Amino acid sequence: MSVSADKPRPVEYFAICEVEEIPRGGARAFDLAEPDGEGQKPFRIVIARNARGDHFAYRNACPHQGVWLNVGSGTFFDDSGALRCGRHGSRFDLESGTCVSGPCEGAQLEKIGVAVVTGDVCIHGVKLVEEPRNWDDDETMDITIPQG
Ligand code: FES
Repeated sequence: MSVSADKPRPVEYFAICEVEEIPRGGARAFDLAEPDGEGQKPFRIVIARNARGDHFAYRNACPHQGVWLNVGSGTFFDDSGALRCGRHGSRFDLESGTCVSGPCEGAQLEKIGVAVVTGDVCIHGVKLVEEPRNWDDDETMDITIPQG
């Protein structure tokens, strides 16, 4: 029996939004889902653009304690235009994702491949669940206090 070498798989692009939906110098959060064994789990990302209009995508999780970067105020940038975490103020270089100051200085945001394909902002190099469940109904967030 012969074993054939694995063929390289074509890159799979997932369209997230249209280019116009994120202005230059802006950022937007997207709540997606990724496979988790037989189920799925939240996959939250942020896609940001610099002043030139280039796109950068990261998992929306601060390397310090894992919270969403836009926790609290809902915004992603500080007054200087750096990405920043709303919890303890770590600041990140937009283009590299490296923390340049704050409690996780030197740590790295998890970068996600992003490209513009026929007017759509697409991510690649990830596995997504096509029909994510509604995380707002997450019953695991309910706290049950046992009786007696
Ligand atoms: S959780 Fe982001 S700086 Fe602490």
